[in-house]
Amino acid sequence: MANTFSPQHFFSDLQKKQKTIAVVGLGYVGLPIAIEFGYQFKVLGYDINSERIAKLRCNEDPSHEVATESFHQADIYFTDNIHEIADASFYIIAVPTPVDHHKVPNLSPLKNASKNIGSILKAGDCVVYESTVYPGCTEEICIPILEETSNLKAGKDFKVGYSPERINPGDKINTITRITKVVSGNDIDALHLVSDVYKSIIVAGVHQASSIKVAEAAKIIENTQRDLNIALMNELSIIFDRMNIDTLEVIEAAGTKWNFAKFYPGLVGGHCIGVDPYYLTYKAIELGYEPEVILSGRRINDEMGSYITKKAIQLIIRAGKYVSKVKVLVMGATFKENVSDIRNSKVSDLVKELESFSVKVDVTDPLADSKEVVEEYGFALVNNIENDYDCVIVAVGHEAYLQLDETYFKNIMNENGILIDVKGIYKNKIKDLIYWTL
Ligand SMILES: NC(=O)c1ccc[n+]([C@@H]2O[C@H](COP(=O)([O-])OP(=O)(O)OC[C@H]3O[C@@H](n4cnc5c(N)ncnc54)[C@H](O)[C@@H]3O)[C@@H](O)[C@H]2O)c1
Repeated sequence: MANTFSPQHFFSDLQKKQKTIAVVGLGYVGLPIAIEFGYQFKVLGYDINSERIAKLRCNEDPSHEVATESFHQADIYFTDNIHEIADASFYIIAVPTPVDHHKVPNLSPLKNASKNIGSILKAGDCVVYESTVYPGCTEEICIPILEETSNLKAGKDFKVGYSPERINPGDKINTITRITKVVSGNDIDALHLVSDVYKSIIVAGVHQASSIKVAEAAKIIENTQRDLNIALMNELSIIFDRMNIDTLEVIEAAGTKWNFAKFYPGLVGGHCIGVDPYYLTYKAIELGYEPEVILSGRRINDEMGSYITKKAIQLIIRAGKYVSKVKVLVMGATFKENVSDIRNSKVSDLVKELESFSVKVDVTDPLADSKEVVEEYGFALVNNIENDYDCVIVAVGHEAYLQLDETYFKNIMNENGILIDVKGIYKNKIKDLIYWTL
């Protein structure tokens, strides 16, 4: 194929719908990209989760990122049968890349997807990975699996690309087509093809990385940098609390300098920022380097649930309440504001820590699914907010919470009520309650 592969002809065949794009893994990342491609190309959407496929066939996105109307214009067919995507030519893999309990990358979904695609791969096809991985993973792990299962040779028989996804769930402004897409390929033809395909849907354009490894590294440092910046603010907030200084006021003052990067303290959960740095540190350690700064940041962010609990207990005791008799309401269970995603939510740490002090805890959330919360964390969400809480912890800044005022919190709390405002959304609005923010 080396001499006959033409990125221009391949792309033109996709445009004429003589070739098909298949998206493998239809979650937060895969579905929006599949739908977007479906507006211009013929698309097959494949996922191993049959329940998800059944919902997608009814134009329902279980992740609540894609509206029902958006399905209507897309030329897309959903399937959980790998053989039904065997005729595709351009494969995009967007499967999860989590870590295990020891914070070690769990590459099973990526390996399984590579095996499955390898089993149906044909000469002349192209496979693009979008999952977040450590630099080197595509070439060291994925390509050998594709080669072994297909009996084909990368570069010579098929092309491989890597284009990391940079979407920000819940963000309705920086949507998929408005974020520059980093693209890369295992040779110049692959790079041209991958660029052309993504350029056709990404209004913000593409950035061609010089290699797959550069593109992998670019994605992983975006989230590592964010994780570390938040960790610094979390550490500063712990220090400033001891100094009786308001961290948010400090950030506001420091932020008046042009080159001060404004980040805020908070809980860092989710499947990206709290996970991706471990992919980089895993590889660094494998290469004999101990990444102290990155791991320190991770440790600080992972311990914030426990720190907030300690503050809550201090305030409860200072307010003259008996810890084992108090009732706490935690508002927000998702990993961040305005999403329904509860994966790796640090709110569960908060709940576990509070319960370890025999505190009775209710948790509520306007977007999270109680059934999912039970399955993942072992507690259910409450729908009926009672009026006898001693302490309310607003852990997530959901839009629905922004308009709540002091009267609301007073009405649901006993005397000497404590409001812990993790994100500082009620700052300067609370006069009578005992108030604390990071
Ligand atoms: N969610 C985000 O905000 C975000 C942003 C940027 C990058 N990423 C990265 O994108 C990747 C996907 O993340 P996500 O949030 O979309 O995950 P997700 O869990 O929402 O979706 C992944 C989907 O892949 C399916 N799947 C798993 N193994 C499969 C296989 N072998 N074959 C076919 N389907 C399979 C699952 O059933 C699931 O529906 C990860 O690497 C993640 O780090 C995520």
